[in-house]
Amino acid sequence: MSTMKRTHYCGSLRDSHVGEEVTLMGWVHRRRDHGGVIFIDLRDREGLVQIVFNPDINPGIHTEAHRIRNEYVLAVHGKVHRRPENMANPALKTGEIEVMVDDLEILNESKTPPFVLNENMDISESLRLKYRYLDLRRSDIQQNLIFRNKVSMETRSYLQKEGFIEVETPFLTKSTPEGARDYLVPSRINRGMFYALPQSPQLFKQLLMVAGFDRYYQIVRCFRDEDLRADRQPEFTQIDLEMSFISEDDVICLIEGLMAHIFRICLNTELRTPFPKISYVDAIERYGRDNPDLRFSLTLYNVTDILTHSNLSFFQEAISGGGIVKVLKVDGGKSLTRKDLDSLEEYVTQYGAKGVTWAKVNPSGWTSPISKFLKPGEVKKVNEKIDAKDGDVIIMLADSPTVVHEALGNLRIHLAKRLNLCSQEQFSFTWVNEFPLFEYSHTEKRLVSKHHPFTSPVLEDVPLLLKEPGRVRARSYDLVLNGTEIGGGSIRIHQQKIQNMIFKTLGMEPEEVRSKFGFLLDALEYGTPPHGGIALGFDRLVMMMIGMDSIRDVIAFPKTQKATCLLTDAPTQVSIEQLMELSLKIL
Ligand code: AMO
Repeated sequence: MSTMKRTHYCGSLRDSHVGEEVTLMGWVHRRRDHGGVIFIDLRDREGLVQIVFNPDINPGIHTEAHRIRNEYVLAVHGKVHRRPENMANPALKTGEIEVMVDDLEILNESKTPPFVLNENMDISESLRLKYRYLDLRRSDIQQNLIFRNKVSMETRSYLQKEGFIEVETPFLTKSTPEGARDYLVPSRINRGMFYALPQSPQLFKQLLMVAGFDRYYQIVRCFRDEDLRADRQPEFTQIDLEMSFISEDDVICLIEGLMAHIFRICLNTELRTPFPKISYVDAIERYGRDNPDLRFSLTLYNVTDILTHSNLSFFQEAISGGGIVKVLKVDGGKSLTRKDLDSLEEYVTQYGAKGVTWAKVNPSGWTSPISKFLKPGEVKKVNEKIDAKDGDVIIMLADSPTVVHEALGNLRIHLAKRLNLCSQEQFSFTWVNEFPLFEYSHTEKRLVSKHHPFTSPVLEDVPLLLKEPGRVRARSYDLVLNGTEIGGGSIRIHQQKIQNMIFKTLGMEPEEVRSKFGFLLDALEYGTPPHGGIALGFDRLVMMMIGMDSIRDVIAFPKTQKATCLLTDAPTQVSIEQLMELSLKIL
């Protein structure tokens, strides 16, 4: 290491430092040779500063500076000068000044990086991930992580002030079902046995309530082996919390306070609280999905009753087969061309719909490929029901309720993007509640929990549990921001009897229940307080706060869509010896 000792960060120097002697350490961002004088932008975490090598000040150092290349690591000593007036760079925070170098030490050299770090170029993501340590040198991604740190600090400070205690829970544990597959870890000492990495700390946080901690939180890593998307990683971070002796509104109020706090401090944005609430059923009815984006209106309406006797065979067929007809009203959608509208047909097929049709509303009725098949009365009634105005566009789809909602719900987002209705600066929060406790899984051909099996049913629905489980409502709530689910939680079951009823409704045999959740059932017999909580997807929240498209942009070392790490090459094969030690054989 150099004999020099750093006095300032490069990016922290300002006009007020003029005349001071400073020692800086950092990376060469850019180097320019101007007929004898060498200018270097030296970079560190805090930013860039221009350093100048003038042969008249120290010829020896100037000669040495000739061999400096991009990304070399330097220690320099010099005096801060005000730049000549016409040389100031208003784009840089340090743009008023420069450092005249009188001592230099090259701390390390660098190969030419595989991509240019000092320009905002479109670099392939795989190259960025392979050389993540270089990618992380870029200011924008570094700023993302610095911002993430700020949000986490403010979250901790808010929760500590609200009386929460951070407690760490195990990573080597037993399966905690959250709807994904587990990552398993073989035990060497206990041959043939496996730990599961936690999908969430759900059961441990409930046990902490049994233990009397009253208010727990943790900013914690969770592991889920599931299909990945831009907002999903196999390991991700939750702001996880649990509270005793509370109801839904206490959790909701606390989280609204937390959001208002971090948006105020970290983004200088005032959020309007309380956030609106919408029931699951209304969300599906009006927006086609349970995570509605409420930045724009575009609403769905059910017009099945109006079109039951229409002359259109595909409406008739869908309705007689138990389906529905819904319209998506695109307010002021007249900029959509006929070509745009015709292309929607192909778009909806990915959601299982056979087709879609459309109409443009005008003062004399509809311009639509299907107008000649509709009676004027039908058009009038649809217009009245949806309050259609001149210039609106109507998209119509007939199919099973599931297909209609999925196709129109996604089309709604697709069209909002096309019509530029999704502003990144607008933050539209909503709570979704009154979820069903169970849903039918077509892949598993059985009832599964909509959230997780520890969610309390609405008390008055408990008698329905064994008779009509599909109608039982959950005491759960999701937090949605601009159409992305950023959190989910519930009031939990604190009585063993009801917990057992849930396992039974899920079709679990008593032996299976005992082996998987015996420890929880035992704990529920020792004075469990009523309790509830929530977990927020921390990566998703940070991503949305700074308007990124993928959570990979706010995670230091993310994995690819295929759950691989291009930097370390994980996962990898292991040696035969390691497998033998674990008594494992690869099939
Ligand atoms: P849930 O499964 O809804 O609830 O998870 C909470 C939040 O975590 C985020 N999230 C993810 N983020 C990135 N990658 C993933 N693979 C991923 N999966 C989930 C989402 C989600 O809303 N134990 C319950 C919480 C509770 O009931 O208190 C739970 O984990 O933003």
